[in-house]
Amino acid sequence: MSIGVIGMGYLGVTHTLAMAKLGHEVVGFDLDSEKVDHLNAGRVSFHEPGLEEALREAQSKELVQFQTSFEMTEPADIVFICVGTPQTGSDGSADTSFVFSAGDSLARVISPDTVVVGKSTVPVGTAAALKHRMSEVAGFPVRLAWNPEFLREGTALEDSLNPDRIVIGSWDDFSAQKLKEVYKPILDRGTPLVEVDVPTAELVKVAANSFLATKVSFINAMAEMAEVSGADAVELARAIGYDDRIGNKFLRNGIGFGGGCLPKDIRGFVARAGELGVGEAVSFLKDVDAINQRRRARVVTLAEQELGELKNKEILMLGLSFKPDSDDMRDSPALDIAMRLAQAGAKVTVHDPVALSAMGDKHPELIREQDLSAAAKDQDLVILGTEWAEYKAIEPKAFGELVANKLIIDGRNVLDVTSWQAAGWRLIALGRNVHN
Ligand code: UGA
Repeated sequence: MSIGVIGMGYLGVTHTLAMAKLGHEVVGFDLDSEKVDHLNAGRVSFHEPGLEEALREAQSKELVQFQTSFEMTEPADIVFICVGTPQTGSDGSADTSFVFSAGDSLARVISPDTVVVGKSTVPVGTAAALKHRMSEVAGFPVRLAWNPEFLREGTALEDSLNPDRIVIGSWDDFSAQKLKEVYKPILDRGTPLVEVDVPTAELVKVAANSFLATKVSFINAMAEMAEVSGADAVELARAIGYDDRIGNKFLRNGIGFGGGCLPKDIRGFVARAGELGVGEAVSFLKDVDAINQRRRARVVTLAEQELGELKNKEILMLGLSFKPDSDDMRDSPALDIAMRLAQAGAKVTVHDPVALSAMGDKHPELIREQDLSAAAKDQDLVILGTEWAEYKAIEPKAFGELVANKLIIDGRNVLDVTSWQAAGWRLIALGRNVHN
C-alpha cells in the first residue's frame, strides 16, 4: 500500500519504519527541513535502539522517502497523522493546533478515497472536529479513522511491530477495512483487534496512560507509607504483584514517571474532563500527579538530611533521560531533581550515556561530564536517577575510591543493596528499610 505519515517525531519516524517493515511504501512528511534532510541521509535525530538500522534497511529497499511538501506523485491510500500535542497553559490542556494544521494541508491534496488516520494522542472529541473541518476544506466528506499507538520509548519499533492489541476507531467500513489491510501481517499472527467508535479510540490512549501513571503513583504512595512505618515498598510490590488481578508490572517505586506522555496525558485528561463537565470523574489524577512530584521533592529532602546545607556540596546525578535507552529528557524526574539541587546551591554534576549531547546548551547550571570515573571524583553524594545498564553494572568498591563520601540514593531501586553496603557505601533506597 502507499502510505503517508505526517510528523517525523518519535511516533512518526517509528510508525514510518514499522510500515516499511511490513512491506508498505511510505512517504514521511515534516515541515522541519533539517529533520527531513537527516532522515534522507539515513540518520535519526533522537536515540532509539534499532531505528537507524531499520531506516537504512527501508532505504536500501527503496520503501521510504522523506519530504517537506505534502504533495505526493500518487495519492496515498492512507495518511497517518502523528504530530505532537504538547501541553499548553497552566490548566494542562493539550495543544491540538498541529493536528488541525496538518489536517488543513492534507485536505487540500487528498482524494475522497484516501483514508486519514489519527495516531496522535488527543482530547476526546478532537477527531469529530477534525473530520468536520477537513471535509469543509476538501469539499467532500473526508474519511477519517483513529488508531492509537502504544509504543514505549526504548522499545518503540519492537512495540509497534508486536503490539498487545490494535485499536481501530472508525465511522465507515471502508476506512476500517483499509486499516486492517495495513496491519494484516500483524493481525494474521493472532494479535487482538479491538474495533470501536472514534471517541472510544481517542479515549483508549489517555485511559491506558492514566492507568499506568496511577499504578506507578500507587506504589509510590505505598513507598511514602513504607518510609514512615519501617516497611519495604519493594517487598510489598512483590507480594501484591503475585496477585494476577494486580500484576507485577509498572509497580517499581522510585522517583516516579516522566517523559513526553504520561505526565502530559494525565493533565490533558483532567483538563478535558473539566471542559466536558465531569472534572470530578478523573480528579484523582491530580493526586497521581502530586504523588509523582512529591517523590522528586523527597530526594532533595533526603540530600539535605544527609548533607545539611546543600550550598557548594558536590552531588552527582547518574542519568538524565526520563528512562533508559532514550535521550528524551521531557519532564525527566532525574533532570528535575538535578535542577532542584542546583537551585538549592549544590554543585551538581550530571552524567548520562547518551542524553548529554541532546541537552545542547540548556541548563548551564549543571556540570556535564561524559566520563563516569571523572564524574564520580570527589562527590559528596551520588544519586541514581535513570536505571541505565551501565549504572547497574558499577563495581561499588572501585567506584567508592573515587568519591569523597560513599553515600548513594538509589532513585530507581535497581542497585544490589548487599554488595554496595559491603563495599562501605551508605545506600538509601526509596521506600525501603534497608539503610545502613
Ligand atoms: C508510555 C506508555 O507506556 C506507552 O504505552 C505509550 O504508548 C507512550 O507512553 C505514549 O503515550 O506514547 P513511555 O513514555 O515511553 O511510554 O515510557 P514508560 O515505559 O511508560 O515509562 C514512563 C515513566 O514511568 C518512566 O519515567 C519510567 O521510569 C516510569 N516508571 C515505569 C516507573 O517509575 N515505575 C514503573 O514501574 C514503570
